[in-house]
Amino acid sequence: MCSVKYSRIKGTGSYLPEKVLSNTDLEKMIDTTDQWIRDRTGIERRHIVGEDETTCDLAEMASRRAIEAAGINIEDIDLVIIATTTPDRIFPSTACLLQERLGIQKGAAFDVQAVCTGFVYALDIADKFIRTKSARTALVVGADALSRILDWSDRTTCVLFGDGAGAVVLSGSDESGVLSTHLHADGRYKDLLTVPAGISQGYEQVQSQNAFIHMDGREVFKKAVNTLGQLVDETLEANQMEKGDIDWLIPHQANIRIITATAKKLKMPMDRVVVTVQEHGNTSAASIPLALDVAVRDGRVKRGETLLLEAFGGGFTWGSALVKY
Ligand code: UT7
Repeated sequence: MCSVKYSRIKGTGSYLPEKVLSNTDLEKMIDTTDQWIRDRTGIERRHIVGEDETTCDLAEMASRRAIEAAGINIEDIDLVIIATTTPDRIFPSTACLLQERLGIQKGAAFDVQAVCTGFVYALDIADKFIRTKSARTALVVGADALSRILDWSDRTTCVLFGDGAGAVVLSGSDESGVLSTHLHADGRYKDLLTVPAGISQGYEQVQSQNAFIHMDGREVFKKAVNTLGQLVDETLEANQMEKGDIDWLIPHQANIRIITATAKKLKMPMDRVVVTVQEHGNTSAASIPLALDVAVRDGRVKRGETLLLEAFGGGFTWGSALVKY
């Protein structure tokens, strides 16, 4: 039996809803242009959930693909974590709903809410569960249906986001896996990127115009670029690595200009950066595992390579993970 020194990604999966909304479609809905959206964000299209489709539906599809890729039995899973900001219900957690759909009845299941940084938070938690032997095999999912919390008349936000899910199966190994994780939060920035309504404020709030994403894009942009630059330094320093030791940068996909700035800081050519923002938009907690799965399945990311995952989002929250794939 192998010793458990690391948690290791055994398989990845992802899922996107069928409906695609292009920039040209958006031109017909609001005062915007394909050119503006491409120039300012890099986004060309995004996927949007169907009328009856929920976050758990997306999470289930992504999870089944990750489980298949990992080659494990569903019964082996003894931890389910979903990072999401758009849960199906107030309670139970979407992780419990997913657990039931997959027929898992053992171990813990819970949601993590750290908006766009959610997957990195969930990965950090699952890694600790596995290394402390509190779990053996974890299903870690990032899934969001942000289209449900967009004001479709607000051109400053509705063009930016999309829906989707990504998942990884993580299990204990004596081979290198997750090398380090670095999580941060600073709630002083709560109002710059927010849905300022919640159930403890009463149902009226949730039904009001407040229950949509509000963002000061310019301020978020500036803070994201600076913070991600520092995060990259922190991650490399903790692992006594040089910039050149990273094989792939797999960033949160919010804006191509933010991604390019981080790649520049790492002195990484863009062909070593996984970019999906043009196809998916910003899918919040789903964006990193979605991008990872795309790059694993198209053969770019290979076993033994060193991956830097990083994200920044509402809270503010931010975090990174250095992973030997
Ligand atoms: O995942 C969580 C993290 N989120 C982010 O990282 C998002 C960070 N922010 C951004 O990505 C960018 O700030 C945006 C893409 C949101 C906006 O880009 P920007 O270059 O910062 O544009 P801006 O907000 O400074 O707006 C420039 C102009 C404004 O017009 P005026 O005031 O210059 O006349 C906006 O009204 O662009 C206008 N504008 C638009 N025009 C056409 C804003 N949205 C649109 C639009 N179509 N959809």
